[in-house]
Amino acid sequence: MSKDILPEERQGEILDNYKSGAGNKKMFIESYGCQMNFSDSEIVASVLNKEGYSSTNQIEEADVIFLNTCSIRDNAELTIRKRLKKIQQDKKANPKLKVGILGCMAERLKSKLLEEEKLVDLVAGPDAYRDLPKLMHQVEGGEKSVNVVLSRDETYSDIDPVRLKSNGVTAFISIMRGCDNMCTFCVVPFTRGRERSRDPKSIIEEAKKLHQQGFKEVTLLGQNVDSYRWSDNPDLRGKSLKEAPRSEVIDFAKLLEMTANIDSDLRVRFTTSHPKDITDDVLFTMKKHENICKYIHLPAQSGNTRILEKMNRTYTREWYLEKVQRIREIMPDCAISTDLIAGFCSETEAEHQDTVNLMKEVIYDYAYMFYYSERPGTLAAKKFDDDVPLTEKKKRLQEIIELQNKHNLIRNEACVGKSYKVLVEGFSKKSDQDLMGRTTHFRTVVFPKEQFQPGDYVQVKIERCTGGTLIGKAVKL
Ligand code: SAH
Ligand code: SF4
Ligand code: F3S
Repeated sequence: MSKDILPEERQGEILDNYKSGAGNKKMFIESYGCQMNFSDSEIVASVLNKEGYSSTNQIEEADVIFLNTCSIRDNAELTIRKRLKKIQQDKKANPKLKVGILGCMAERLKSKLLEEEKLVDLVAGPDAYRDLPKLMHQVEGGEKSVNVVLSRDETYSDIDPVRLKSNGVTAFISIMRGCDNMCTFCVVPFTRGRERSRDPKSIIEEAKKLHQQGFKEVTLLGQNVDSYRWSDNPDLRGKSLKEAPRSEVIDFAKLLEMTANIDSDLRVRFTTSHPKDITDDVLFTMKKHENICKYIHLPAQSGNTRILEKMNRTYTREWYLEKVQRIREIMPDCAISTDLIAGFCSETEAEHQDTVNLMKEVIYDYAYMFYYSERPGTLAAKKFDDDVPLTEKKKRLQEIIELQNKHNLIRNEACVGKSYKVLVEGFSKKSDQDLMGRTTHFRTVVFPKEQFQPGDYVQVKIERCTGGTLIGKAVKL
């Protein structure tokens, strides 16, 4: 699995290195979408492993194929539909094969999926994975099965995720589920339900266990990690937690600190931050701990205040820029990346240029860019016209992509001649004589392997770069 920590329409990746299942039934899991889906597939593997299913990377030997799906943009769903067509052929060769749809598309389309895609046997939404043994039982008995009930409190905190496709160095820990933000363009609140935080004890336990197993980096995951909140006091659960006294509450800054304190050798990352919620406390906690990586993913979505308001992002362009400035005041060296949407409803060329200018002002270290894709059921779909022509959306997207490519290069070139502490994740894609690792800023570094190995921290002096990679040599500290 590529170490992509950001929500993205990733092509299906096969979670294949889990073979310890006790039984003789085999499941083949393919995950799409954001890191949260990939994490959930590890929960699914754990739940079904107890039922005697082991994971396989050979689709031909699978008794059941699961697609853990994404709905974020229309293209993400089209990819799944195409994949199902292909699976139809596999089913012809093996009529006993069962097919399950998990994740966000399952939640969005519910039992409609069974009508639309005849070969699908099972539909389970993101909060229904504990129910998979029962659902599989029904399917094995020849029935179709569905559970798309969303929960207010499911966090799977007691389920020990099976580390699939792991590099043994970096791992993801889900700290919360759902999203309450209701950005008008976004389907996530509908597919993942209400926001809820996971018990910090189980988070810290999971991080400690990973550290004991030799992992060197954990990424705390949530759609909006800065609104993480937990209280052991049952009277303070739910809404009132927002107004509860600080002493009674574990917020994201505290959770970050607790994780960083596990061991200074364990790197900590997190994603995603909503600009409206990231606090000074979080920034000062990052500054205080060397092992909290100096990298913040701060999705702007647009650089124009009218569009931001229409998106219900609850900040203005100026407010966002002040946040960026605040981050740089506290941590001058912090890398910042973003998500941007081109061609949202009624966006004019001048408003698009505000996004371009925002990029020029911030000079992001990295950006994920998309053109707007209307999602059924969202507020934008109900209230606004999707009136920017596709060709125009694509043109605007192309413009921001090209600009960001330049910025990637500018940012990387500034690293040449400097040396960085790199956590080695594995071998370079191009040569087994080179290692690949990351700096605190999440930049990819490639260097000759010498005596080093995955999991080592190596000081690397950067000699040259491309827009995507820094290339260097190990040096003594
Ligand atoms: N929770 C995160 C991101 C969730 S989705 C956040 O709030 O930042 C990841 C990204 O997909 C979003 O940041 C947004 O840029 C993009 N996205 C979401 N819905 C979209 C849509 N309907 N069309 C195009 N891009 C979209
Ligand atoms: Fe979607 Fe907005 Fe929630 Fe992110 S914060 S998941 S963009 S609704
Ligand atoms: Fe993630 Fe896609 Fe769902 S981005 S939360 S898998 S809609």
